[in-house]
Amino acid sequence: MCCVLCRRVFVVLLSCCPLLMLGCPSEPAQAPAPTAGEAGSAVSESSEPDSATDLGEPTDAETVNEASPAATDDGSTPQEPTPEGTPEPEPAPAETPEPATSSATGNQELLPTSVVLGDESLYEGIPGEGPLTVEQVKEWLATPGVHESLSITLPLGLSLGEKQIVGIEENPLTRAKIELGRQLYFDKRLSSDGTISCASCHDPAMGYGAQTQFGVGVEGQTGNRNSPVSFNRILSGPQFWDGRAESLEAQAVGPIANPIEMANTHDVAVETVKGLEAYRVQFDAVFGADSVNIDNIGKAIATFERAIVTGPSPYDYYAAVKPFLDQFPTEDDLGELKEDEPDLYAEYEEAKALADEHPMSESAIRGRELFFGEKAGCTACHVGANFTDEKYHNLGVGMDAEEPDLGRFAVTGDEKDKGAFKTPTVRNIELTSPYMHDGSQKTLEEVVEWYARGGHPNEWLSEKIKKLDLTDQDKQDLVAFMKSLTGPFPMVETGRLPE
Ligand code: HEC
Ligand code: HEC
Repeated sequence: MCCVLCRRVFVVLLSCCPLLMLGCPSEPAQAPAPTAGEAGSAVSESSEPDSATDLGEPTDAETVNEASPAATDDGSTPQEPTPEGTPEPEPAPAETPEPATSSATGNQELLPTSVVLGDESLYEGIPGEGPLTVEQVKEWLATPGVHESLSITLPLGLSLGEKQIVGIEENPLTRAKIELGRQLYFDKRLSSDGTISCASCHDPAMGYGAQTQFGVGVEGQTGNRNSPVSFNRILSGPQFWDGRAESLEAQAVGPIANPIEMANTHDVAVETVKGLEAYRVQFDAVFGADSVNIDNIGKAIATFERAIVTGPSPYDYYAAVKPFLDQFPTEDDLGELKEDEPDLYAEYEEAKALADEHPMSESAIRGRELFFGEKAGCTACHVGANFTDEKYHNLGVGMDAEEPDLGRFAVTGDEKDKGAFKTPTVRNIELTSPYMHDGSQKTLEEVVEWYARGGHPNEWLSEKIKKLDLTDQDKQDLVAFMKSLTGPFPMVETGRLPE
């Protein structure tokens, strides 16, 4: 949330507005549907060190974030996203007010340049109705702040992965670039026959995936792989199930020229975009004069994708309060905390209130133990803030076919990579059935059965995949845990494309 007076973003409910000298609303009820932005956690360090100051001084509330779940989930899992963390009292440095506007152009206020990804202002499109006119675009591009590099933090939960952020130094996030990428992402005119956009297979309404076994492209063509999700890409380097695209930018231009996806050529797509003045004006403003080309199309789309992140899930809220409960297990302990460390206690209360409001079921809590623990061992691969090691493993999926898809092997030529695919995130996984690189498994129950059986035996099966000794209840609990990983997406404008 942003203070109307000082235009600073206060992402943690506890932080104070220096001008009002008031706490920001501590009642989550004032934020009806907690969005990623609102419930975001503050991490004072910006991933872009230069602009870290934009965010102001660290707030005391960030200790909640540091005392993150992952640290306590299983000390034996070295890949956990955070360093050790138990709530440590931390003084809240006095905040110095900033001028209400630093806009050089005078009457218009500078849009905030420090944001928590998920903040809806990033995706709401250029104001107005219907197709986007050149006039509207020009007016909006003149808004102070739209071209500033954003200093970003990630929402609670995902914020544990701030150190893994990739790509934004090479291709900084700006509001104008996110908006341009948004338009391109939803624009079917990039395909050969005007029927398919990125969103056809990575649809916000379907968890940024598609509910078909394989991606369905121009003229109903299909390949042999399931559409993975296009969110939380900001924490992901090489793209595709086999990692053949070295960056999101490189990935983004692939589908346009893929004969079974958008079936276009890059040249024709570039000409189409060039032919629309509203696009031309935006490319010029974002990338410089005469800059409509395929690389910049890729950069803009990648920027939009990086901005799409999952908001806090019940698991994340639970994880934020868990360290307090571990360290102060009894009412007496909490009473003492209240007396000795009132600020820290207030943080605890805040975290507790949010966790109570987004509860994890008992089953999901048991599933969490299994997922992180030895018995199911899922975090051997689904680890870190985005629940993936970004590495390639053979689970035996599809290996019973006569000519199996050899996955990573096609990229590296390395024998051991045969049948290995990139570990997908399991955030918001309940929204993106069917599962696996070949879309062969329809439900999470089926997936858990697959793991319980130890995958499908084959010469290259990962050593980390073994038969699991799970009861029916355990299996249900694992599914319940995965469902507790569902967090909100920001609302994204899907129309408002250049006329
Ligand atoms: C016809 C359906 C289809 C269309 C259209 C499509 N994709 Fe995909 N996308 C897929 C499939 C299938 C894969 C997996 C392919 C593979 O791994 O070989 C994929 C992979 C990806 C990935 C990699 C995710 C990861 O986890 O590695 C991203 C990101 C992505 N697409 C974004 C886009 C963007 C951006 C566009 C528009 C320019 C787009 N896609 C258009 C089906 C589609
Ligand atoms: C050895 C690493 C590894 C371990 C251990 C592992 N996974 Fe996976 N997981 C993967 C990979 C790799 C894939 C994709 C495999 C494919 O499509 O061929 C995957 C796919 C999945 C999917 C489907 C995701 C999607 O978008 O299609 C789910 C759900 C899942 N795993 C849950 C679990 C659970 C639950 C456990 C623990 C019981 C677990 N995983 C253990 C690596 C692992």
